[in-house]
Amino acid sequence: MSFCEPTASVLISLIASFNILANVDVHLNSANTDINNQKSLQNGAKLFMNYCSGCHSISFMRYNRIGKDLNISDADIEKNLMFNSEKIGGKITSSMPKDGSLKWFGVTPPDLSLVSRSKGVDWIYTYLHSFYADASRPFGVNNKIFANVSMPDVLWALKKTKSPKAFDQDVRDIVNFLDYVGEPARLVRVDLGYKVLGFLIILFILAYLMKKEYWKDVKYGKWRAKD
Ligand code: HEC
Repeated sequence: MSFCEPTASVLISLIASFNILANVDVHLNSANTDINNQKSLQNGAKLFMNYCSGCHSISFMRYNRIGKDLNISDADIEKNLMFNSEKIGGKITSSMPKDGSLKWFGVTPPDLSLVSRSKGVDWIYTYLHSFYADASRPFGVNNKIFANVSMPDVLWALKKTKSPKAFDQDVRDIVNFLDYVGEPARLVRVDLGYKVLGFLIILFILAYLMKKEYWKDVKYGKWRAKD
């Protein structure tokens, strides 16, 4: 019995934790982003650098890689996107000192390199739209899908200056950019995938025609069954 007891208690706590998760009714809206939309990615990069990189790093990414992938010239990157790092080949760090952020927010703003992979684009999209006024919180805001979040509503000023539709597009562009950052190779991988499949289809047609040609003279019988 002593062997079974821990197993049983682990099982019970697992089931309990599933129940807790099931009770949190989080509805995520679809981010509906397209990683092949270069204009959206460019706008997302600009917005991210302006509104997010003050606190968040995306340290798996380098400035010049963004330039190359998104067709932004080095000069434009240096002028419009680089606020924290000196070198165009440098990683995208945040200017926020770690001990300072701990004091100001109680947490260090996490690196966002892989957040699109861990949380998913729909979650980030819904999160950025879900801030609401709550006077009991240090920054006067709370978040519907991230209770008692320590991040301020950084996009409030942008929201005020834009139409709801344009603001929504901006949020989508930021999410799209984070999706790209989560797996930059996808731009190449998907494109290459279509080319490889196209090549295989053409090869199949040629190989089939060649097979027909080769077998044309072979009579039905021992070597060739009736088609
Ligand atoms: C003033 C600093 C600050 C700015 C600017 C900022 N954030 Fe944050 N962000 C935070 C902090 C602090 C947290 C951690 C919240 C917590 O754990 O309670 C956070 C958390 C997040 C998370 C959740 C990450 C996770 O894995 O839990 C996402 C996503 C995020 N921020 C996205 C953004 C985006 C996108 C922008 C730009 C539009 C942005 N943030 C701008 C401070 C900031």
